[in-house]
Amino acid sequence: MGYKVAIVGATGNVGREMLTILSERGFPADEVVALASRRSMGVEVSYGERVLKVKALENHDFTDTDICLMSAGSEISKEWTPKIAAAGCVVIDNSSAWRYDPDVPLIVPEVNADTVAGFRKKNVIANPNCSTIQLVVVLKPLHDAARIERIDVATYQSVSGAGREGVEELARQSIAALSGKGPIDTQGGARQIAFNCVPHIDAFQDNGYTREEMKIVWETRKILGEPALRVNATAVRVPVFYGHSEVVQIETRRSLSAAQARALLENAPGVTVLDEQRLGGYPTAATEAANRDTVYVGRIRDYLAPDRGLNLWIVADNVRKGAATNSVQIAEALARRPI
Ligand SMILES: NC(=O)c1ccc[n+]([C@@H]2O[C@H](COP(=O)([O-])OP(=O)(O)OC[C@H]3O[C@@H](n4cnc5c(N)ncnc54)[C@H](OP(=O)(O)O)[C@@H]3O)[C@@H](O)[C@H]2O)c1
Repeated sequence: MGYKVAIVGATGNVGREMLTILSERGFPADEVVALASRRSMGVEVSYGERVLKVKALENHDFTDTDICLMSAGSEISKEWTPKIAAAGCVVIDNSSAWRYDPDVPLIVPEVNADTVAGFRKKNVIANPNCSTIQLVVVLKPLHDAARIERIDVATYQSVSGAGREGVEELARQSIAALSGKGPIDTQGGARQIAFNCVPHIDAFQDNGYTREEMKIVWETRKILGEPALRVNATAVRVPVFYGHSEVVQIETRRSLSAAQARALLENAPGVTVLDEQRLGGYPTAATEAANRDTVYVGRIRDYLAPDRGLNLWIVADNVRKGAATNSVQIAEALARRPI
């Protein structure tokens, strides 16, 4: 017998991809229900070869639904996740609403699939932030081998990380800029994203960092099980449609050369090494990462200073591995255990 699965946010960037990935990976579902807001009732979305008509979340009874993949933002999740979980359905939530709750496991299956049993406390599992997922998939094998003591990361995040609106905004602004039709329309002091880089994602915090930057700090510590790990992040939005890139520097307790790291990463689950010193011998968001599930790593170099450290370039599709694929992999880990 298969599972009954509901997707909340099925008309969104991530929700549509979840439906595609459930079908691509042959998730054992007997029934899949697509849910969104009332605005989308009757809208058609694809689930493999099948077309599903979207229903309204507020009218759905979850009592016989086994797994809910939730991808409709934090506010909707805060309101609906407790109700859905109380109906006996396990929620795998893609927003940041539950990630820092000690009773909710935060899972990247290549790294900490063993924490899945923790869902029983609240019937909820959290899917991490996209930038954190690709970071920890690569860092976990290096941490196991040499104990990472410090991580410095700068992200180059695509506009799809801001949902459908982000994608449409970059398209609209690019057309306006290229056609020379006057000033680019932005609101409330926001900077244009077309032909620009913007060092501001999510709200500023009291410590001067943005929430997007602090998510990387908090989530990396929780997933690696290292509450005191030194992590510094700068998150930047760039005019790329799909795929986040990261410049990462790590300092390790034990020495680990670039060659040793490369060998470890070549055998790491979910990682593809593309690290050749030639034109195109490195991964990029648009060419390699977009539409793929693997996390790419390249430009692996020893620190120039004689310290124990490495430089890395990490790239992945933020909507697939950074959100939808990771959620479906969590559902697979759950399905391997009796619910
Ligand atoms: N995109 C990424 O890279 C990424 C990565 C990691 C995590 N996430 C997280 O994933 C979530 C969704 O992101 P997205 O990129 O898919 O956003 P999106 O394209 O803007 O889609 C939002 C979805 O939420 C639904 N929704 C909004 N209000 C609702 C309501 N009142 N009741 C039910 N459904 C409602 C929308 O349905 P309607 O069409 O009916 O409005 C739509 O299906 C967010 O929490 C985001 O932070 C995104």
